[in-house]
Amino acid sequence: MSAPNKQYDPVEVAALSAEAVAAARDEALAAIAAARSLDDLKAVRVAHAGDRSALALANAEIGALPPQARAEAGKRVGAARRDVAQALSQRQEVLESERDRRVLEEERVDVTLPWDRAPRGAEHPVTMTSQRLTDVFVAMGYEVAEGPEVEAEWYNFDALNFPPDHPAREMQDTFFVAGPEASARSGIVLRTHTSPVQIRAMLTRPLPLYVVSPGKCFRSDALDATHSPVFHQIECLAVDEGLTMADLRGAINAFVEAMFGEGLRTRLRPDFFPFTEPSADVSMECHVCRGASTRPGGAPCRVCRSQGWIEIAGCGMVNPKVLVACGIDPDRYSGFAFGLGIERSLMIRHGVTDIRDTLEGDVRFSRAFGMEI
Ligand code: DAH
Repeated sequence: MSAPNKQYDPVEVAALSAEAVAAARDEALAAIAAARSLDDLKAVRVAHAGDRSALALANAEIGALPPQARAEAGKRVGAARRDVAQALSQRQEVLESERDRRVLEEERVDVTLPWDRAPRGAEHPVTMTSQRLTDVFVAMGYEVAEGPEVEAEWYNFDALNFPPDHPAREMQDTFFVAGPEASARSGIVLRTHTSPVQIRAMLTRPLPLYVVSPGKCFRSDALDATHSPVFHQIECLAVDEGLTMADLRGAINAFVEAMFGEGLRTRLRPDFFPFTEPSADVSMECHVCRGASTRPGGAPCRVCRSQGWIEIAGCGMVNPKVLVACGIDPDRYSGFAFGLGIERSLMIRHGVTDIRDTLEGDVRFSRAFGMEI
């Protein structure tokens, strides 16, 4: 026979003592209150309400108690576990609503903000003018021909019949590229005009020849309102049998009308260029006042300075010497050419008074010209 069971004293089961249960509960409540995030709280839940928590272990011990002690210990542990569960769910609610508020704040979308925050660029007006001029000639059947910006002196000057001592070759006009020995000439220049493309076209393309050549040019001019060391020209060249000044005139008229307005008259006056003979400068009737400023009582015109005419280009019949330099028989073929400044065209067409506006890269200047497709 076994000895009778002693009276059970729950105090003897350490994990179930009132102090131990209260301590486990208080520790749990403190940890819950200290949880700063839902993740923290998850860890607290595992530590203080999970299967291995002090209160869960205490709960498991209850079953081992003698029946008369179970009720009391069960009540005590049960109450502590309820307190912890309630604190957990309250804290969970608080932390969830805090998170929801934060997410709403952080992920807030202001639907009233404009969507197009990246500033739009704009095609440069010099590019636009160059394309517009080129298109006029392409529409007349001309081909686009391009040449290098760093050019052999021979193409830029000699083949175009510039004599060796021509003033344009001098340092104040031309950027010469230094040779291997800085003192010696390399024979290479930054092209001073687009006319060398005429030579390249005549040397490489079959006749008859109709080409238009837009491009960048360089002269050692100081930058001011009307001069820039870097600028653009467009050159037009036709070589065919039987071309005369009348054809040149016709091409010029077509270009002026397409670029500046229908019905504008043109005027040729004698001029000199080594590569054309005869040579002329081209003026067009002022597209703004159409000559009104020159007549008695007419309002003054800023665009033509009340001259009625605006000089826009140089032109002429291709000098037979240039044809010969390119291996073309001047008895069979003749040619006409003209060249003009693209910035100048732009300035005349749009009333731009300072060429530096085309160089500064301020998109506000470009944007004012809009887009052309
Ligand atoms: N190349 C000349 C210049 O830069 C412009 C020019 C004049 C071009 C007469 C031509 C022309 O084709 O025939 O000043």
